[in-house]
Amino acid sequence: MFKRAEGDTRRSVTIHVEGRAIEAREGDSVSAALLASGLDARRATAVSGAKRLPYCMMGVCFDCLVTIDGVGNRQGCLVPVVDGMQIEIQKGKREIGK
Ligand code: FES
Repeated sequence: MFKRAEGDTRRSVTIHVEGRAIEAREGDSVSAALLASGLDARRATAVSGAKRLPYCMMGVCFDCLVTIDGVGNRQGCLVPVVDGMQIEIQKGKREIGK
């Protein structure tokens, strides 16, 4: 669905989504990296389980919630990727204590 612009010379970083290594680019937000990866990055809402993808990409809609390095309810659109980052697609409520 999404394709990177040609001529993007930013350095590659590797992040892990549900344990699977994917390539992102330095400066990508977590949400941008997920959308560019082609993976099914849809989270499930806490109440109905409805599927959601990042929408506004600017911190307003909260449709991008993910677990990053063990911390739940992070807005993926506001967090830049870091090499080695561990990301879990959030299914329902975050775990207490995470
Ligand atoms: S995509 Fe809307 S808050 Fe992150």
